[in-house]
Amino acid sequence: MLIGIPKEIKDHEYRVGATPAGVRELVNAGHKVLVQKDAGSAIDFSDDQYVKAGAKIAANAKEVYAKAEMILKVKEPQKSECDIIRKGQIIFSYLHLAAEPHLTKMLIKSGCVAIAFETVTANDRSLPLLAPMSEVAGKLSIQAGATALQKANGGRGILLGGVPGVARGKVLILGGGVSGTNAAKVAIGMGAEVVILDKSLSRIRYLCDIFGNSAEALYASLENIEKYALEADVIVGAVLIPGAAAPKLITAKMVKKMKKGAVMVDISIDQGGCFETSKPTSHSNPTYVLDGIVHYCVTNMPGATARTSTQALENSTLPFSLALATKGYKKAMSDDKHLLAGLNVIDGKVTYKAVAEALGLKFFDAEKVI
Ligand SMILES: NC(=O)c1ccc[n+]([C@@H]2O[C@H](COP(=O)([O-])OP(=O)(O)OC[C@H]3O[C@@H](n4cnc5c(N)ncnc54)[C@H](O)[C@@H]3O)[C@@H](O)[C@H]2O)c1
Repeated sequence: MLIGIPKEIKDHEYRVGATPAGVRELVNAGHKVLVQKDAGSAIDFSDDQYVKAGAKIAANAKEVYAKAEMILKVKEPQKSECDIIRKGQIIFSYLHLAAEPHLTKMLIKSGCVAIAFETVTANDRSLPLLAPMSEVAGKLSIQAGATALQKANGGRGILLGGVPGVARGKVLILGGGVSGTNAAKVAIGMGAEVVILDKSLSRIRYLCDIFGNSAEALYASLENIEKYALEADVIVGAVLIPGAAAPKLITAKMVKKMKKGAVMVDISIDQGGCFETSKPTSHSNPTYVLDGIVHYCVTNMPGATARTSTQALENSTLPFSLALATKGYKKAMSDDKHLLAGLNVIDGKVTYKAVAEALGLKFFDAEKVI
């Protein structure tokens, strides 16, 4: 199969759909790879390295989309990309369609086979292609929160770890999944006082086991959310209902009552956000202040550590990319129900239930459609 790797064009997005090491694996499996000029150069993956790994270099995105049977990328296609996606072309990428009605319509119109990283599943019902980026975003959320807490950045002027004789900062983490757990690891490492709230009792038990007394893992009741939100210096929103819009756990009314200069980092913003006052932001303008609270709502946080993130993502996507390229999408997905779970749109039909429900579109059973 001819696999295309375009250069990402979202604001400050330097990740890339494949590293030279990944290209080598694809070429070794008998595939051809076309990489857009400078696709990885910003993170020190040069065109020369791609060529050494066996790829050909394309002058622009148009050439990549015109020739490739499968596009391997990172972020959801932007408008100019949707205009050149071809009917039947496989798009294997993050998509986050539940919060993106326009993108969904464009993918429907294109007739492509859109497989979303974030809805591919594993046997334990986890999301293996979301996990590496959630690990990165979770760790980054505390770095971002600690920076925003500084006075010059609009924050309360609090040092998360405190110093001898001065109390440490309080961090509330909503959702103790992959990103919430990684946020907790960094917050604990910095010496903050950490509370994690989750709805899943089995997850709460796990968090208690791994963190012991270094963090408090509690049930996410309305009462606990309100109590700990009003005390917090940093709140990290890290909940997920797979494929669906995030529940609004912190209301605008609660934000008005929070401590002035506190910081809210909404990792779940790519699914619409879990704070009522969240609006998507970008790396060039990551925060805004509303009711005295600093909001950080960057939709592509792992883009900030693009080299680490690209390598981490490829470690998880490569087996699926290889299966799609080697077997073709029909056989690859009928052999693997977890990959099939990634199918969101095919031939103009929405095949992911939560996306269809969130956007009021007709749902088609993926198994029947392929
Ligand atoms: N902004 C970014 O750049 C970025 C990067 C990576 C991931 N994400 C997003 O971060 C979010 C979290 O991802 P994850 O991989 O950690 O998910 P996860 O499935 O590992 O964890 C989500 C957790 O939320 C809990 N939860 C669900 N509903 C809840 C509720 N009402 N109250 C409390 N807890 C609840 C679940 O029990 C689960 O433990 C997702 O929306 C994901 O798309 C964003």
